[in-house]
Amino acid sequence: MISVREVDPFDEPTFGSWYDAFHAAAVDQRPAAVVANREALTFSLQNPGPAKRRIPVGAFDGDRLVGAMLFEYPLIGDPDTVEVEIDVPPAERRRGAGTMLWRWATARAAELGRTIFQAELGVPATSDPWPGSAFAAGLGFTIGNIEDHFVVPLPYDADRLAQLTKDAGDLTGYRLTSWAGPCPEEHLQAYADLRTAMDLDVPSGEMTRHPEPWTVERLRPNEERMAKNYLALVTMAHTTDGTPAGYTLIYLMPGDPDNALQDDTLVLRDHRGHNLGTHLKLANLTQLADHRTTQTLLHTWTAQSNTPMQKVNTRFGFTFAEELHELERHAPGATE
Ligand SMILES: CC(C)(COP(=O)(O)OP(=O)(O)OC[C@H]1O[C@@H](n2cnc3c(N)ncnc32)[C@H](O)[C@@H]1OP(=O)(O)O)[C@@H](O)C(=O)NCCC(=O)NCCS
Repeated sequence: MISVREVDPFDEPTFGSWYDAFHAAAVDQRPAAVVANREALTFSLQNPGPAKRRIPVGAFDGDRLVGAMLFEYPLIGDPDTVEVEIDVPPAERRRGAGTMLWRWATARAAELGRTIFQAELGVPATSDPWPGSAFAAGLGFTIGNIEDHFVVPLPYDADRLAQLTKDAGDLTGYRLTSWAGPCPEEHLQAYADLRTAMDLDVPSGEMTRHPEPWTVERLRPNEERMAKNYLALVTMAHTTDGTPAGYTLIYLMPGDPDNALQDDTLVLRDHRGHNLGTHLKLANLTQLADHRTTQTLLHTWTAQSNTPMQKVNTRFGFTFAEELHELERHAPGATE
């Protein structure tokens, strides 16, 4: 008989089993999976931030934890959505644990008055039906957006970097500024504006997204919170007269010795067509070489519809690892 309850992130043995199940299920048959590392997730759950409520939930067979769910909902923007990640380790599957966790999620969402469920699914190239896809389709989820997940080995090939730099030529009309850690005070407003533009511009297909604009007041505490578990490496572009034009962001995580994440890259519309995306990435890869420790893979995610960024990724030697499916399901009768 499977029962479901919230897990206390301060209850070390139970939370430890919860994380083990969460991790084991999420990496199964996915060689390039990137899963929130234990240190970062524990910090986040023990120290709730202002932007998101995150609840770890466990499915138990007696005392044994047989499934893990992370149930989340934004507290800023998107008042109707919840995100679920349901993870049942391979040995515990097809006994209803996933379904029991889902029932908990629908009951809690109803209490909160939230009607839109979202989930993300890493789907490797496989000829077999992918368990997560079959499970989610059965619950009524549909695919709202597909991104390709790419990887490139680290340390980044120095010859390739030199050749790409040569091919990119001189950057005229712009200057680049790089930093590691919090944004320097003088760039903070521009960085907040660029982060807002990124949220609005990133292709998100049919997914429901109403991001709140970034302000300096919100960005600074967010950076401080992130800095506990992530080192941000940023390169920003300005025109020579000082107008912000774009940025790119890589994260290193002390709690994950293997993976580095190439996160946002944005060139504002007025500044596209000058090879700025390439120059930004080159400068940030140079900065990555100075800060990398043991990481052996750099990951990035790009919408299949985003032809320009797909081209840049290919040029930089990224290869396909798996698809990331963004899924959505509206509660019956809900409108959006
Ligand atoms: C997807 C996952 C959570 C399912 O957990 P589970 O405990 O096996 O789920 P259930 O036993 O409740 O399965 C419910 C239904 O989903 C469908 N399903 C689940 N796994 C399936 C598979 N491998 N092939 C086909 N259908 C499957 C079936 O319809 C199943 O009902 P049935 O067993 O009566 O046929 C689990 O495989 C997993 O953790 N995968 C990795 C993470 C993930 O993809 N999570 C989903 C995104 S939120």
